[in-house]
Amino acid sequence: MSNVSMEQLISLCKRRGFIFQGSEIYGGLAGTWDYGPLGSELKRNIQNAWWNMFITGREDMFGVDAAILMNQNVWKASGHVAGFSDPLVECTKCKRRFRADHLENTEVCPECQGSLGEARQFNMMFKTTVGALEDEDATAYLRPETAQGMFVNFKNVVDSLHPKLPFGLGQIGKAFRNEIAPRDFIFRSREFEQMEIEYFVKEEDWQGRFADWMNAMYQWMDLVGIPRPSVHELEVAPDDLAHYSKRTVDFEFDFPFGRKELYGLAYRTNFDLNNHAEASKVPLYIVDDETSEKIVPHCIEPTFGVDRTILAVLASAYHEEGEGDDKRVVLKFRPSIAPYKLCVSPLLRNKPELMEKARVVYSGLKKLFGNVTWDDNGNIGKRYRRQDEIGTPYCITVDFDTLENDTVTVRDRDTATQDRVAIGDLEMFLKEKLQ
Ligand code: GAP
Repeated sequence: MSNVSMEQLISLCKRRGFIFQGSEIYGGLAGTWDYGPLGSELKRNIQNAWWNMFITGREDMFGVDAAILMNQNVWKASGHVAGFSDPLVECTKCKRRFRADHLENTEVCPECQGSLGEARQFNMMFKTTVGALEDEDATAYLRPETAQGMFVNFKNVVDSLHPKLPFGLGQIGKAFRNEIAPRDFIFRSREFEQMEIEYFVKEEDWQGRFADWMNAMYQWMDLVGIPRPSVHELEVAPDDLAHYSKRTVDFEFDFPFGRKELYGLAYRTNFDLNNHAEASKVPLYIVDDETSEKIVPHCIEPTFGVDRTILAVLASAYHEEGEGDDKRVVLKFRPSIAPYKLCVSPLLRNKPELMEKARVVYSGLKKLFGNVTWDDNGNIGKRYRRQDEIGTPYCITVDFDTLENDTVTVRDRDTATQDRVAIGDLEMFLKEKLQ
């Protein structure tokens, strides 16, 4: 377990091009973050791994990619217009706003000690208008969860692909919540990304499927390098359940700022399909292939925040090793999600024959492994430190021996050990290592 602080993580993320404050040159926009070159690679690798594991890797799952802007009636039927709110209190003196359920004392302002007003419900959906007329009919909401894009496409998928129960829909995409108090870096922001699954089952099967999905969620955490001892299950108390849920287990992670929700697994019953069928007047059901009965399936929902995954992966990968001049920071990412898989360097920059040979090795590896970086700045030790800090699993150095015998040095990020490998064997050697 690493003991990284949020300050260390945020500083590394900015310094090395992972994550920047949104709209930074204008002073930022609270609750928004931009992923830089390294962060966007990390994010894409995580999303691809999720899609491969849960959609293309399974026979019972289908992907969708629904619009972010949805008809306001979706959110009326789903219960979000009436109920997707947090209790807000405002300080009568400094006018700052807080989430009442995050305060220990709901009477005194934690910032200026002024007195806090009455708590009122604040709906977290971002409202907008679609088209040129700004009347009530033009109201639309940016989705606060990707889930509804799957419920409203249930009939389309059933009619076009004729799946049998159990089957699921999965989606990766942006969600927006006007959080009262965005905080803790990318943990709680106003624009974020979710990877969600709506898995449709017969009512009598829900408990077994719920247990299957719990296991699948742990396998996912293993895949991306979130260690099990840092994850804790929380059975959500009946009074705290979301309006659609009959059972929810939260997976909490030991973030540097404390133990907080990483993922959730909910049993949404047939709440959503029933409500949409009633509100839209479009029957939403599936014909049971055994009994030929029309049934409204029940739904198990595993939900994964992309940004919280990234934060948990960064915190888990962060290590500091050595002392004094030998001290190094290393992000021990799983190779499959590391932003760069390999770095190629000539031992010295001012030797044209080394540069030329290293360029050939670099372009060959780039064709084979895609995300390969080049570094010829500073001395080789400094290059290794730089690559360690961004989590590049292997560094390949072209030196004078390469010119003699066509071998290169391959240096391992985690152990700092070096192997001498023939250029002709590099593909096999690295493929095995990067698995
Ligand atoms: N469809 C169910 C749903 O949206 P949720 O617990 O409200 O449930 C699911 O959100 C996941 O989305 C959370 O477990 C978390 O990973 C992520 N998430 C929620 N709010 C977030 C926010 N403001 N910033 C970043 N991630 C958030």
